[in-house]
Amino acid sequence: MKPMETPVTLETLVALCKRRGFVYSSADIYGGINGIYEFGHLGTLMKKNIRQMWTSSLDNQLGQVVQMEGALLGPEAVWKASGHVAGFHDPMVDCKACKRRFRADEFDLSKGCPVCGKKDWTEIRAFNMMFKTQLGAMEDGSSVAYLRPETAQALFVNFKNVLTTARVKMPFGIAQIGKSFRNEITPKQFLFRMREFEQMEIEWFCKEEDAQNTFDFWIKHRLEFYKSIGVDMEKIRIRAHEKDELAHYSKNCSDVEYNFPFGWKELEGIAYRGNFDLTQHSTHSGKELAVFDDATRTSYIPHVVECSVGTDRLFLTLLFDAYREDEIEGEKRVILALSPAIAPITAAFMPLTNKLSAQAKLLYETFKKTGMSVDLDESGSIGKRYRRQDEIGTPFCITYDFDSENDHCVTVRNRDTTKQERIAIDGLSEYLKNALHTWKR
Ligand code: GAP
Repeated sequence: MKPMETPVTLETLVALCKRRGFVYSSADIYGGINGIYEFGHLGTLMKKNIRQMWTSSLDNQLGQVVQMEGALLGPEAVWKASGHVAGFHDPMVDCKACKRRFRADEFDLSKGCPVCGKKDWTEIRAFNMMFKTQLGAMEDGSSVAYLRPETAQALFVNFKNVLTTARVKMPFGIAQIGKSFRNEITPKQFLFRMREFEQMEIEWFCKEEDAQNTFDFWIKHRLEFYKSIGVDMEKIRIRAHEKDELAHYSKNCSDVEYNFPFGWKELEGIAYRGNFDLTQHSTHSGKELAVFDDATRTSYIPHVVECSVGTDRLFLTLLFDAYREDEIEGEKRVILALSPAIAPITAAFMPLTNKLSAQAKLLYETFKKTGMSVDLDESGSIGKRYRRQDEIGTPFCITYDFDSENDHCVTVRNRDTTKQERIAIDGLSEYLKNALHTWKR
């Protein structure tokens, strides 16, 4: 096995995602829509695993985490209170010569238009990135609604509902996974910057005096998460925001950054939001959002530490991180060396020939019933089937052959090492469980 050193490009991943049905452009047969994507079978399975790992990573020693699923559309009042109507802008500029539109903060305008080279710019305007719509038939101010640009606001707006119904005590967290929408001026780099994307967010509610420790705690905790899902920690770093970079709500913020082929970029934001959001929603709605502290007999508005990562951006990160090429006996092999906890398929069952299909299928059905994500791969030579599974990240290929009829064993082939072992069918479940738990990058 000879590793190839050529670094993976975005184009290679986009092609792999399309070829193997991980991700398609939205409305592909109509030419696609910029910044919007759809996930195929393997992509959907992998995303499900990412969500599952994220949710279980939230367990912590500080307190309880409960779940929520907020609405995608919110009334204008919510987005006025949150500051998004007034402040969720990107600077936009147009090239008068070629009529292309750009984000003005992404390159040096004095060097000219990146498309036509001319230096004939419009004024820079503030462009609000929220998608605005109208609820019902009446087109008046009261029916204005927005697709949410972050999932977080539902967690603030429902803070009191959760506190009074979910039997939680301060401090605690509310976590949510769901879609967000931003009318990005220049969506780019595939799943990195999309117009419709998914976020996994937790808001941690605590006392002001505990906020700094909580912020530090979550930074460490989030790094453990990336390690646990097999990310190369050499490519992960924490970058503290400069004061002038902070969002309108933020007192302190650090990004978890990943070293993408296009540079170090934000993967996750960890922000100390103060009590900005709850104070704003309390003022704008007229509802009391303070909590009572039995120990001090005083009320206070909780402070919040937020961890927010895009599911799709993490999906892309994991693909970059796992992509390898090597050469076996002169033949190129593509592997997604994903953690088994993330790989869309855990094990692929293969009959050596069609004559053994029924037996392989029986094994496949048995494992499928246990809830394991399995595949039945019957066509082509065994070598071809191994390559196919390597390319989609399947950690184990299990072949039922003629010897299996007598020795009741199967051949288990490991994706990463390509080593093959003969394992008793009776002990296969135990073997896989053990191999999955002991997997290391
Ligand atoms: N509630 C805080 C918030 O939304 P953000 O830094 O704007 O903060 C958090 O977004 C995370 O959401 C980012 O770190 C990124 O992973 C993901 N994200 C943001 N905009 C995105 C986009 N246009 N496409 C894909 N993912 C995006």
